[in-house]
Amino acid sequence: MPAIANLPAFALSGNTLHAEGVALTDIAERFGTPTWVYSRSAIESAWSEFAQATQGRRALVCFAIKANSNLAILDLLARHGAGFDIVSGGELARVLAAGGDPSKIVFSGVGKSREEMRQALAAGVRCFNVESESELVQLDAVAGSLGLTAPISLRVNPDVDAGTHPYISTGLRDNKFGIAHDRALAAYRQAAQLPNLRIEGIDCHIGSQITEVEPFLAALDRVLDLTDQLAAEGIVIRHLDLGGGLGITYRDETPPARGAMLAAIFERIDAWVVKRGLTPAEGPEVLFEFGRAMVGNAGLLLTRVEVLKRNGDRHFAVVDAAMNDLMRPAMYEAWHDIVAVAPTSAPAENYDIVGPVCESGDWLGRDRQLALAEGDLLAILSAGAYGMSMSSNYNTRTRGAEVMVDGTAVHLVREREQIADLFAGEHRLPAR
Ligand code: LLP
Repeated sequence: MPAIANLPAFALSGNTLHAEGVALTDIAERFGTPTWVYSRSAIESAWSEFAQATQGRRALVCFAIKANSNLAILDLLARHGAGFDIVSGGELARVLAAGGDPSKIVFSGVGKSREEMRQALAAGVRCFNVESESELVQLDAVAGSLGLTAPISLRVNPDVDAGTHPYISTGLRDNKFGIAHDRALAAYRQAAQLPNLRIEGIDCHIGSQITEVEPFLAALDRVLDLTDQLAAEGIVIRHLDLGGGLGITYRDETPPARGAMLAAIFERIDAWVVKRGLTPAEGPEVLFEFGRAMVGNAGLLLTRVEVLKRNGDRHFAVVDAAMNDLMRPAMYEAWHDIVAVAPTSAPAENYDIVGPVCESGDWLGRDRQLALAEGDLLAILSAGAYGMSMSSNYNTRTRGAEVMVDGTAVHLVREREQIADLFAGEHRLPAR
């Protein structure tokens, strides 16, 4: 079966695009459109590359669940022993509902509420990634009020340019994230004085969709340098959390392979450990928080062409998915490959693939050479990360179903929303 470029789980068979062993035409018939389709084997193979690269090492690979927080995906990764990176009480609840191990949860985020701190302390999360001096003080107070000690890392901002889209670059000095590198030492001293905190590690995350190893190594160097400075003051760092950010191929990007990327990081850490005369067991444990690289290329968005129309010189294919479903093109001008589920040899036309939402920014792909008829199915590829998890109900549109394909089986892992659900919590005014 000819697989779609670098997406082995999605391939043409009998001229119909399949997810593993299931034709997407069958999925559309059974579940309607738009529908998010995930491949279990694609997720498991991404996981196993990370797992192999960390085998025999003190390391914990977490899944940044903001990329895709469907319970079935969390459940699958939890069964394989993944940790989880969360950023809200809602995400905490999801991980627990999916059977995730709280002692493998790291809690990131720049503005945790006191209630979220309480929930995470009660659950027994592995570590809070603290992003400001104020948060240190607040967390200390919340932990004290519960008679608990909060395990913490400080998220330091290494001021490294990850060379990615400005909206998803987070490691630069003027970002809202983390604590500036030059303030980190003072913040650690402050943390060490607070009675209800226990310093565990250092955390950094420099951005997303990074396609080179160098920015990760540059950030790591700064983190190791800080570890040395802290050691000189008697503050012991037990783990390094290097965040996520590893990119995927949407079009022609060539990110490092998952294993190669981790190997480069471990090589640098090992050299640092040896130089300090430590044994590997005395060196820091290494944590990661990968989102996109775990699920991005394991999912697609299945949609149907409603209308073909021409305005001026442009040809438009209006499909039943829109910016409320997949926000990335509108928000970041992100490029997702769009392919016909049953390609024909009819002459292709240059189409803008747009949704029905009342915004000119509602496009999913521009200038795509496709042979299309109304009613055709299209697959929007590489949509497993930051697709459904960023969707909204704009224009009072119900969000699509989500299914997970496993060989020849299809599991409905989230039902399509019903219109009545969308305003079930709203109230008309009382008569007066
Ligand atoms: N850890 C932290 C603290 C993060 O902020 C993020 C992502 C991750 C880990 C996971 O990063 P990943 O491995 O997925 O690159 N919505 C954007 C991406 C925003 C990323 C936000 N933070 C997009 O659709 O491209």
